[in-house]
Amino acid sequence: MTLTDKISRLKREKKAVILAHNYQRPEIQDIADYVGDSIELSKRAKEERDAEIILFSAVDFMAESAAILNPDKKVLLPSQGARCPMAQMLRADEVRRWKRKYPEVPVLLYVNTLAEVKAECDICCTSANAIKVVEALDSDTILFGPDHNLALYVQKKTNKKIIPMPKKGFCPTHVLFQKGDILLLKEEHPDAVVIVHPECTLDVQKVADYIGSTSQMCRYAKELPAKKFIIGTESGLIHRLKKENPNKEFVLAYDGAICPNMKLNTLERIYLALKEEKHQVNVSKPIAKKARKALERMFSIT
Ligand code: 13P
Ligand code: SF4
Repeated sequence: MTLTDKISRLKREKKAVILAHNYQRPEIQDIADYVGDSIELSKRAKEERDAEIILFSAVDFMAESAAILNPDKKVLLPSQGARCPMAQMLRADEVRRWKRKYPEVPVLLYVNTLAEVKAECDICCTSANAIKVVEALDSDTILFGPDHNLALYVQKKTNKKIIPMPKKGFCPTHVLFQKGDILLLKEEHPDAVVIVHPECTLDVQKVADYIGSTSQMCRYAKELPAKKFIIGTESGLIHRLKKENPNKEFVLAYDGAICPNMKLNTLERIYLALKEEKHQVNVSKPIAKKARKALERMFSIT
């Protein structure tokens, strides 16, 4: 019996579903029940009524959101060490300090934060809905964290004042993309459309034709008649892009754009996590209650 067969059998026996982020390894995307960006995965986790186990193949903060939204289900991460470094860049006590400095200003947090940090905010957003959430808030000034590049992207699209906290939160994978590499690729592929994630630096955002979340990038590439794309996000998205558009060409703007945390998950680890029901994600009830409010508020807007 292959590993994939064993995983399928365990899924049936344990009433488990596998949700995988767009950055997961190709073989994981291929066996997942659902592949998506962070907002889609949270929504999907909320809708999983029949499942008893949600195996969340991604990183810590995404699995935590699934656990917060599904307090009665077991949420498992295939690798305990799959932690998003950006989510470690903003602590709950720092947010409390910013709130003391700006007591009247609402706090908007990117979902790439840990549950205890989300518990301190008024509302969450993802890169797919950040602008919509900012516009919906009843304030001209907004505290926003932790991604500085997403903050700059949002700032360009709104007249409101975005105060980034901390000053320089970033994704170590997305800051690897450089404007020079993209311009060189454009010389090589003059007919290519450049699409990037808003976690890329402002320099890179400036040379892009389209900026969006991972799933928004997929939809854009599918709908646009163009045949060639230069991609500025983690390498895992290339698999989905090629699968959905077999007649189009996708060039990763930098070969080294690999999120080592996302790539900790493997089929073997998925099998073991399901078999032993290990690496369960637990969020304490008081933290979950507050963080759920911030997530639900985001869902009510988008
Ligand atoms: P998406 O919400 O676009 O999937 O992004 C999540 C992420 O971690 C990007 O690095
Ligand atoms: Fe975190 Fe960046 Fe990896 Fe996304 S790609 S999970 S933001 S480190």
